[in-house]
Amino acid sequence: MQHDPSKDATWGAQLGWGIARLQEAGSPTPKLDASVLLAHVLEIPRTVLIGYPERAAAPEQIERYAGLIAQRAEGMPVAYLTGHKEFMGLDLLVDQRVLVPRPETELVVEAALAAIAERLGDVAETDEDDDADREISDAAPVKDFLAADIGTGSGAIAIALAATEPRIGRIYAVDISPDALAVARHNGDRLSVSDRISWLQGDLLDPVPAPVDLIVANLPYVSDAPDAAMPNVVKYEPHGALFGADGGLGHIRRLIAQAPTKLKPQGVLVLEFGYDQGAAVRELLAAAFPGAHITIGKDYAGWDRYAVASTL
Ligand SMILES: C[S@@+](CC[C@H](N)C(=O)[O-])C[C@H]1O[C@@H](n2cnc3c(N)ncnc32)[C@H](O)[C@@H]1O
Repeated sequence: MQHDPSKDATWGAQLGWGIARLQEAGSPTPKLDASVLLAHVLEIPRTVLIGYPERAAAPEQIERYAGLIAQRAEGMPVAYLTGHKEFMGLDLLVDQRVLVPRPETELVVEAALAAIAERLGDVAETDEDDDADREISDAAPVKDFLAADIGTGSGAIAIALAATEPRIGRIYAVDISPDALAVARHNGDRLSVSDRISWLQGDLLDPVPAPVDLIVANLPYVSDAPDAAMPNVVKYEPHGALFGADGGLGHIRRLIAQAPTKLKPQGVLVLEFGYDQGAAVRELLAAAFPGAHITIGKDYAGWDRYAVASTL
């Protein structure tokens, strides 16, 4: 389909053109994608775009939008095109140095927050002397409550934990990729949580300087066998963030093996894994932490997606 910007520059017409172009290309979410991209170029919220279809875009905006639609039609993730991804209500900057954080990883963060609440108590449960209306953001860090986010990528998990749970004293956020760590640190600085996060480069738990109360990890878990991942994921996202040896379980297996020396007594591990790896991860956790209470959580599609191991 030819794109003739002079034809109709109104937001409504541009949106309709973009949707049709993405439908033609087989995009799974053409309406959402076209509206996100047009709103991004116009620098307005999507709600405003939808509300004023008769307003007109400038020629240079239309040209930029057409370029983004062409890249999206090729399969480029929308988050790399806009440079932004919302995660747990936070605006993260992303580019091709990092994996685009996925909605299922929000479930992992929620499981970690629940584990912290179990350890430290619900912040809403205050003493009689306390102000019952106290906001969670007023809670003081518990200096000796330490967490680690292994394979931090964009910093999504570490930043969401720091922003949501002020009682965490420090989070060690580790990535083997210096490029990923630069993105993560920038996100942490922008969202004003880097004062409680140590950004560390290295292999799995090696750089973590002391035993911690909580280890959270979303490590690469896709099998390196051909056809194990969606073609557009493989085409655009960093391979070091996707593939694990050993049927995908290599990183998780090594992390669990290291964890007993880096987890305090009664510590908690929360690990994301591939849809068919639940039984194997449970077995690895049970062998490394005899007697641990292990639960397997499901993602929005109903697949096993993460494990929570509370150790003795
Ligand atoms: C699946 S991505 C997860 C990124 C982020 N935690 C998230 O949930 O969106 C995995 C990350 O682990 C990092 N990684 C791969 N191997 C690693 C290793 N041996 N040690 C530490 N990090 C590693 C990759 O660079 C990548 O950023």
